[in-house]
Parts: sequence; C-alpha cells; structure tokens
Amino acid sequence: MDRLVIEGGTPLEGRLQAGGAKNAALPCIAAALLGADTVALERLPAVSDIRTMLKVLQALGCEVLREDTEEGLAYRAEIRAAGLEAGELRAPYELVKTMRASILVLGPLLARFGRASVSLPGGCAIGARPVNLHLEALERMGATIRISGGYVEAEVPSGRLKGIDHTFEKVSVGATENILMAAALAEGTTVLRNAAAEPEIGDLARLLIAMGARIEGLDSATLTIRGVPALGGAAHAVIPDRIEVGTYLCAVAAAGGDAVIERCLPEQVRALIDLLERAGCTFTEREGPEGLQLRIRREPGQKLRAKDILTAPYPGFPTDLQAQAMAVMTQACGISVIKETIFENRFQHAMELERLGANLRIEGGTAIVAGPAPLTGCTVMATDLRASATLVIAGLVASGQTTVDRIYHLDRGYAGLERKLQGLGARIRRVGGGSV
Ligand code: EPZ
Repeated sequence: MDRLVIEGGTPLEGRLQAGGAKNAALPCIAAALLGADTVALERLPAVSDIRTMLKVLQALGCEVLREDTEEGLAYRAEIRAAGLEAGELRAPYELVKTMRASILVLGPLLARFGRASVSLPGGCAIGARPVNLHLEALERMGATIRISGGYVEAEVPSGRLKGIDHTFEKVSVGATENILMAAALAEGTTVLRNAAAEPEIGDLARLLIAMGARIEGLDSATLTIRGVPALGGAAHAVIPDRIEVGTYLCAVAAAGGDAVIERCLPEQVRALIDLLERAGCTFTEREGPEGLQLRIRREPGQKLRAKDILTAPYPGFPTDLQAQAMAVMTQACGISVIKETIFENRFQHAMELERLGANLRIEGGTAIVAGPAPLTGCTVMATDLRASATLVIAGLVASGQTTVDRIYHLDRGYAGLERKLQGLGARIRRVGGGSV
C-alpha cells in the first residue's frame, strides 16, 4: 500500500495549476445518462473516484472512452448512453460501496428509463449520510421506491416523472443534483426550494443546459426546471476544484511561503480566503494567461492569529476544508473554536493531529484548538479524503519525518498531490509504488 513520506519545515514557494473539480465532475458524468448522444467531458481530475464513476456508467451499459490529458493529471471522457433500455439498469454494490456519489445515477435513470436499481451506499466514515432527501423527492415526482436486498428498487408506473414544487427539508448537494437531473426530463415544471447553491451544482446545470435542459435560478437556492422530452449530447469542461485550491492555500498558510495557484476561481474559495486573511496571510488576485491566478503569502516570521470556523452550506465555510483549516489553526496564536455543522463525525483527523503534537480538544461537534503547537513527525493515517490532506499539511509543518499511511483516500480526490507540492519545493515522496 502506498504511503507519503514528508520531511517538514520547508516553506512552500512556486506555482501550481488547479485541476478540475471532482465534485462537479461526478454529477456531470451521471448527467450523460440523460440522453443517447455523446457527452464529452474535459478536465476530469485523474483520481480514483472519477474512474469509479465511469465504471458505474459502464456497468449500466454506457460506452466510455477515456484519455489522459494535462500530463496525466486529468482525463477527457466521451460517454454514450445509447441502447441501455435492454439492460438491467443496475448500479452494483461492489462499485457503489466504494463511492457514495454513485447514487447520482438514480435520478437520471428514472427520468429517462422509468426504472433503476441502485445499491444503497452503506456506512461512511464522516457521518450517517442517508439518501432520504433524494428518495422523498423522487417519490413525490411519481416514482415508486422500495428497498430490497440492499438496493433501491425504483420505477415510475406512469412512465414519466412529473414536475413538482419541492422544498428540501435540509440543504443537500447530492439531493439537489439528483432531482435537478431528474426534473430536466420530467413532465412539466419543477421548482426546487432550499436547494444547495454550491458551485458544482451550477456547473452541472450549465452542462444540462448545453444538453438542452431549461433551467433558471442558477447558483441560487431556488431552481426552476421546465422538463423537456429528450436531451442531446454536449461538450463541457468542469470548473476548477475549489477544495483542491483551498487545500493548497491551507498548506501554504500552515507551512509559510509564497505561492501562486493558476487557473482557479478565487470567488469560490472566498470563505477560506477571508479566514486566512484575518489569520495573517496576504492574497492577490490577477488575470493570467489561463484564467485567474491567486497568490498567497505568509512571510517568514509572520505569525498566524487563531480564528473561529463554522462550517455551513455554500457560500459559508465548506465542511470539505474544515480539516485542512484545523491544521492551519494548530499553528496560529490563540484559541480557535471550530464548529462542524454538516457532518456528525468529521473530526477524525483531530486525533492524528494530536499524535503529531497539536493541542486540541473535541466536544461534540466542536473542536477547540490552542496554538501554536510545535509538531513533530511520526506515522499517521486517515480514514477519509480531506483528513488525509490535513495530515499531509501537518507533515509539511512538522519537524522531522512524517509518514502518511492509507493514502488511497487521498488518491480518491487529489490528482498528483505530491507532484504539485514538489513543484512548491516540498520534500514529499510516495513510497510503495503506484501512480498519480
Ligand atoms: C457532497 O456530498 C460532497 N460530495 C461532499 O464532498 C461534501 O462534503 C458535501 O456535499 C457537503 O458539502 C460530492 O459532491 C460528491 P449532502 P453529499 O447531501 O451530497 C444530510 C468530499 O470530501 N443528508 O450535501 O453526500 C447529510 O447526512 C466530500 O469531497 C440527509 O440527511 O452531501 C449531511 O449531514 C465528502 N439526507 C447533509 O445532509 C439526504 O438524503 C449534507 O449532505 C442527503 C443528505
């Protein structure tokens, strides 16, 4: 099994390019199920979650062509979902259990074929993560759903889903995406209220519009979708990964240095930029040859100030950056109170940070971090994607050698993490074989 070995204590200096967003790419891949023509997707990050999602589509009967781009850091994929009617339309447990986002095929399959069988994802390290909001909305649209043998067995007795006026009980990224896709092919108009407004949903909506969908209210909490009878093919490049960008910003903030992130959308990481600015980092944004560039600086000797963090749906502080920001706060002067409001069990990185020397305490959904604490390298391991990235950041700060184990979690969501960090001068290497 691969590990990352890090010699900490070096400031990070240089440039890197943001990749495409994993969490935008996953629903865009599922959207290809909505029509029989080719959907061509660019800038899919070369990570295992993307390979898994493409396998889910292949298992459903799609033709998938995938090629490497951006020196192996990205994929271009052509997906053709023709001739699936004859198949089982079944997303198997073996794939779904490794990636919860597989549930996103449910809405498109039901909308286009009137039936689907999708394994329930099962447990998750960061929280219970039920799919009730997805299922309730689909039922209101006319689907009959039963759980049998661990699968969601769904069908639409009338043949076509119907538009609804629906208020989500809780803001959910996945449920908004699933129902947005389903509504694109439903009969009549759907209004989704209390919808998630994460940039990844806007990206999905833009792909759907390119395929022929009629959607209004993009990037807001109310989406209006006028269903159409069929959708066509489209070509689409996914947006930059704001969580990847945020992770590198946290790395530079924690380890110190001066780095430029190219091809990113700073507006989409505003909550983190605000936090790090208040903590003592300096930012500049400018137009570059390949889109916007974001520069972060924390000069040698510039002390960090502890700040509180409250996770919230977009545009609030993202839960997907809470762990990385905690690593930064271990190095800040004072007490930082970090409240996680989205997932009930997303502090697993805290115990590992403590092993590296962090001074913190967990009380329910709140972490209290006292800094700055000198970190000393040791072997650590993480149980989820963002927690793993956090341990890498802590390793970059720690004196001596840190080994991060179980990095298959990292490989689910970060393309070429060690390559990008090496480009900033970090002393980090992968041992034990393996690829990007
Ligand atoms: C998406 O997960 C992201 N995944 C997550 O990214 C991210 O942490 C999360 O949104 C929140 O921003 C993808 O986009 C593939 P939710 P999702 O539905 O859609 C509860 C990463 O590190 N809920 O918005 O599964 C749920 O339990 C990750 O890349 C229900 O109660 O998240 C949670 O408490 C991991 N019932 C809250 O809502 C439901 O039916 C928000 O979850 C659905 C969700």
